[in-house]
Amino acid sequence: MNLDSPMSALDYQSGFGNEFSSEALPGALPVGQNSPQKAPYGLYAELLSGTAFTMTRSEARRTWMYRIQPSANHPAFEKLERQLAGGSLGQVTPNRLRWNPLPIPSEATDFVDGLVGMVANSSAQNPSGISIYNYCANTSMQRVFFNADGELLIVPEQGRLRIATELGRMELGPLEIAVIPRGMKFRVELLDAQARGYVAENHGAPLRLPDLGPIGSNGLANPRDFLTPVAHYEDRQQPTALVQKFLGELWGCELDHSPLNVVAWHGNNVPYLYDLRRFNTIGTVSFDHPDPSIFTVLTSPTSVPGLANLDFVIFPPRWMVAERTFRPPWFHRNLMNEFMGLIQGNYDAKAEGFLPGGASLHSCMSAHGPDGETCSKAIAAELQPSKIDNTMAFMFETSQVLRPTRFALECPQLQPHYDACWASLPATFTPNRR
Ligand SMILES: [Fe+2]
Repeated sequence: MNLDSPMSALDYQSGFGNEFSSEALPGALPVGQNSPQKAPYGLYAELLSGTAFTMTRSEARRTWMYRIQPSANHPAFEKLERQLAGGSLGQVTPNRLRWNPLPIPSEATDFVDGLVGMVANSSAQNPSGISIYNYCANTSMQRVFFNADGELLIVPEQGRLRIATELGRMELGPLEIAVIPRGMKFRVELLDAQARGYVAENHGAPLRLPDLGPIGSNGLANPRDFLTPVAHYEDRQQPTALVQKFLGELWGCELDHSPLNVVAWHGNNVPYLYDLRRFNTIGTVSFDHPDPSIFTVLTSPTSVPGLANLDFVIFPPRWMVAERTFRPPWFHRNLMNEFMGLIQGNYDAKAEGFLPGGASLHSCMSAHGPDGETCSKAIAAELQPSKIDNTMAFMFETSQVLRPTRFALECPQLQPHYDACWASLPATFTPNRR
């Protein structure tokens, strides 16, 4: 990858958590106040609050928009006939689960209709928890969508997307991620024939960069590599369907204009992009492994210090140099709940069965680790520095147990014999030989 090249032809502002500002027309952004009696160009001022008004300053997220029509200009929403697949939860299970990738539908399916609920640990009416979806789409959205239920972290596995948001346009593909704030309107257009990937819906505190502790002031995901769009508006007086997800249900109405009509804005409640190839990966240079939290890109904290509502963790290409060490991810049982996906290549804990676009769920205290084949090879290997390359697995890790949806438990992509991958671990204990 050329780290100097921009990720797409669009313009962006770089940084994380900044007070950004942007105007598509010169002077459209009021100076010195947020809500003047007459906003420039006859625009309306509107505030989008991503946190409660009274949050501490370090937590507060809000953006002022200067738009052609205020969002309030809409008729009543009506519940849509077509609702999301995977909308109802199934039997909770302590078993380890793994899924093959979902097929791309043959009928026309846009990003919203292509969302399929896989697991969740909270309803959106609670101020914590997450829901996880796959998406499979083959058609650009003609309508505009917003999610009242939480922030969306979009992880493409196939196909490039252009996401036109209220604050401007972003383009991304596999190995890049996008985050859309709760309530922000957007339209997903496909830049390739089809698109597939993962979405984490965060009902809790907004995602932010993890603290670095003794790592110091640099490393992991660096703030300057996060990109936020510049203002771009649609001055279109034509019928546009607006759809929202509200407590898991889709509701729609028809506007007589495009709601992506923000001419200028300022604030820190913004959509953003990140290229996972820019992650500064840190690991051992002596022996053993740091915990996988060393690979955290973004985190949503709970009120308990160190206990995440959502950690987004990646397993990127990296050199393995640990001496006298079992190098694959170790066998373990975790208080936290782990939903994993694969964007490309192979994951170093599994010889087969975990495919790009597929997923696995290892819930609280479920025992897991490398499969039999990976384990045997790792014990026998003559250790040299080696590079794990052309790979990108990731994990959505959360403190509350994830319950699979009925869809996830009943779909043919659920692998019936996942446990078998650990059944071939040989008994090698020899009490009379150390
Ligand atoms: Fe794990």
